[in-house]
Parts: sequence; C-alpha cells; structure tokens
Amino acid sequence: MAPLKASWVAGLVMMADGTQCNDAKGPSKQTSSLFQGEIAALQQRAAQCKAGLERQSAAIDVMNVRVGQHILDVGCGGGYFAKELSQAVGDTGLMTALDPSPTQLDAAKKTCAGLKNVEFIQGDATSMPFDDESFHSVTTIQTLEYIKDVDAAIQEIRRVLKPGGRLAAISTMWSLNKIYGIDEELEARVNQGKTAIADLHENLPVDMPSKLKAAGFVGVQQVPLPTWDTTYHENSFGYLWTRIKRAQLKKSGALSEDELQQWDNVLETAVKEDRFAFARIPFSRSPQCLSVC
Ligand SMILES: C[S@@+](CC[C@H](N)C(=O)[O-])C[C@H]1O[C@@H](n2cnc3c(N)ncnc32)[C@H](O)[C@@H]1O
Repeated sequence: MAPLKASWVAGLVMMADGTQCNDAKGPSKQTSSLFQGEIAALQQRAAQCKAGLERQSAAIDVMNVRVGQHILDVGCGGGYFAKELSQAVGDTGLMTALDPSPTQLDAAKKTCAGLKNVEFIQGDATSMPFDDESFHSVTTIQTLEYIKDVDAAIQEIRRVLKPGGRLAAISTMWSLNKIYGIDEELEARVNQGKTAIADLHENLPVDMPSKLKAAGFVGVQQVPLPTWDTTYHENSFGYLWTRIKRAQLKKSGALSEDELQQWDNVLETAVKEDRFAFARIPFSRSPQCLSVC
C-alpha cells in the first residue's frame, strides 16, 4: 500500500482483490458532483473509445513507466488507465487510483478486478493522503479542469512526486470544442452558457505552464492531441460532450428546458443527415518535477 500521510484520517483505501485497508468518510468540498449516474457511465465509455486510448498512449510516453515503479492516477474515473499502468509496473510495482466519486471508484474496481497491485483511494486531488515523494510518476487525464482550486491540486501532485518524477496531465481547451451540423445561433447560445459553469476551467491548457512552474515543475512541454469525431452514439466522444454540456447548461440555467430539447432535436437531425462532427483539442503536458537535493 502507498505510504499514507500521517495526518490523513478520512478516505477509503481498497485493493483490487477486495481487501479493505482503511475505511472512513471521504472528502471533499473540491469534488465535482458531475461524475455520477448517467454522466459517469458515459464518461467511462468514452474513456475506452479511440480518442480516450490515444490520450492514454500519449500519457504513457511522457511517464516513462518502468517495472517496479509506484504510479498515481488522479481522477482515475472507470480505472481503464489504472489497469493498463498496473500491468506496466508489474507485480513488483504498485498502481494507486484516486477519485472522489464512489460511482467512478466502483467502476474502477470492476475494471481492475483480480489485479493485486492496484489500490483505490476515495479522495480529493487538493488534499491527498500520501507522504511526500511517494510516486515515480503521476497522471491526471481531464480531471484538473473540474477542480475549483486547481493550484492546490497541482501543488499536491508536486508534493507527492519523487525528485525527478514525471507528471502527464491532459486537459481540454473547451472553447476549441466545436459541434458542426447544428444551427449556428443555437451553438453560440450553448457556448455563451459555459461562463455560468463555476467549477469548470474552460481553457486550462493556456494557464497550465505558469501554474506548473509556480508549483516547482521544470521542463514543461505541451503536445496537442486533436480529436475529430463524426459519430454520435453512447461510446463516442461527441455524444459524451453534448451530454456533459447539457447537464451543465441545465444546472446553470443558461438554457431553458425548451431550448435544451431544441438542441437535442437539431443534433439528432444533423446526425440523421450525416452532418454531425465534433472537434476538440486536448493538450498533454509533460513536465518533469524539480529535483530536490
Ligand atoms: C472527465 S473524468 C476523467 C476520468 C479519467 N481520468 C479518464 O480519462 O477517463 C474526470 C474525473 O475527475 C474526478 N474528479 C472530480 N473532482 C476531483 C477532485 N477534486 N479530485 C480528484 N478527482 C476529481 C471525477 O470524479 C472524474 O472521475
């Protein structure tokens, strides 16, 4: 098991074989409530589609994973990347998968069932229950943009990385997300609604280099990972994005129920007429942690 921070008492640690190591109530006020129920299920499917696998592959390249290492996935979602990484570090390594959402963690445990070198932590990126310098590398894929105090999360990641350890962080330029095939005026209204979403950093990649440097990271590099998706079904990124967006617009009240229904209808028409396309640009960041002598 990962060395737990002495001051940490809240949280849940569960091994993939079902052994429970520590049980208490999980954090936190930083946690987004978005990834429950239908959205969690959609997000888990999208993580396994082509664009999701490409992101994992880009992160692995950055992390330089070796057998026997201890790796952390912050915001592990359905645990698909944790499974991949647990196999990469082998029996002598350890994979730690952290997420605040019980729904996501349950799915992650199922994904990693039978693997003995994965542990699950119900926890929050801004206050992680690990000792300083615990991990050889950390990955966090499309998670930081959902955390209000993203600087605190980055500092925590920096704290738990070993000297010379690597971070592979992927986040999305949401303003570059674009749905094609629907009415331009409606799309403009959908986009206007995004400013009402308090807990989402719309264009985090722009701010990441300065945030990472402020936290002590060096060697920050940036790689765009474009997605062009003309499919619209339960396992596609385009579909997932419209559903997440819909949930956010509904929550913020930026669009009325009638307008949301109208959006659904025009999307369906575009799909039927083969005019639907979804474009997005997530960015991968590959900083190396400053060595501490
Ligand atoms: C878009 S999903 C990405 C999941 C996974 N990394 C993937 O690529 O499939 C965002 C994840 O971040 C988690 N999350 C939200 N707030 C968090 C926080 N404060 N600390 C850690 N994870 C958080 C959510 O529960 C969710 O599982």
